[in-house]
Amino acid sequence: MGRLEIQDLHFSYTAGEEILKGINLVLDGESTAIIGQNGAGKTTFVKLLKGLLRPTSGRILYNGKDLKDLTVAQIAQNIGMVFQNPYDLGLSDRKLVSIASIVAMNPDVIIFDEPTIAQDYAGKTRIGNIVKKLRNEGKLVLTIIHDMDFVADYFDRAVVFAKGNVLLEGNPEIVFADADVLEKAYLEQPNVTKLCHALGQEKIFLTTDAYVEYMRG
Ligand SMILES: Nc1ncnc2c1ncn2[C@@H]1O[C@H](COP(=O)(O)OP(=O)(O)OP(=O)(O)O)[C@@H](O)[C@H]1O
Ligand SMILES: [Mg+2]
Repeated sequence: MGRLEIQDLHFSYTAGEEILKGINLVLDGESTAIIGQNGAGKTTFVKLLKGLLRPTSGRILYNGKDLKDLTVAQIAQNIGMVFQNPYDLGLSDRKLVSIASIVAMNPDVIIFDEPTIAQDYAGKTRIGNIVKKLRNEGKLVLTIIHDMDFVADYFDRAVVFAKGNVLLEGNPEIVFADADVLEKAYLEQPNVTKLCHALGQEKIFLTTDAYVEYMRG
């Protein structure tokens, strides 16, 4: 089982413009969705977890070991990543092929950057089930994602990034109930949550299944 501990992580690409401004986070066991608007620093953050970028200050510990003492090749044996824009094939196929190639390497930590882009409902379901299966096998699964319905359906935990900071983290029920934080991070609630709110429901529902079950009593 992989465990990542991020301690006061700062990162800048260029002097004077800080992209990550002191991230503290423990990633351990739960499947985690990283959400936040464009430019919030999400891809930068996961590239640091892969050792492709190195912190300006602060530490990232993988199973207690500082990543700075490991080479990119050593990190790659443990932490796999499916990138936002793999090339060569059509976009939906590209994603599935790159997911398959990373999963085949059997790393303890698997990071996805926007896995559902260009996927239809069947593709999303397939990828969501891969996330669940990996998590149930004891892998640490991390995903950057803009699709809030996908978060509600498949993840244990959501971490809200905004302007290089973590604004809130917790299970999706807690995160999607916090209208103030979502507004600050320019995020929306899942579609079912919005619909139930519009229908006058006071309770928060994240998924169609949860709402249907409630209505059936
Ligand atoms: N190689 C780079 N050199 C300089 N600045 C960069 C570089 N890559 C990203 N940035 C800047 O860092 C900030 C964070 O970018 P990042 O790609 O981490 O955001 P993101 O949250 O992944 O956004 P998106 O949702 O659009 O993928 C942005 O302002 C971006 O312009
Ligand atoms: Mg990105």
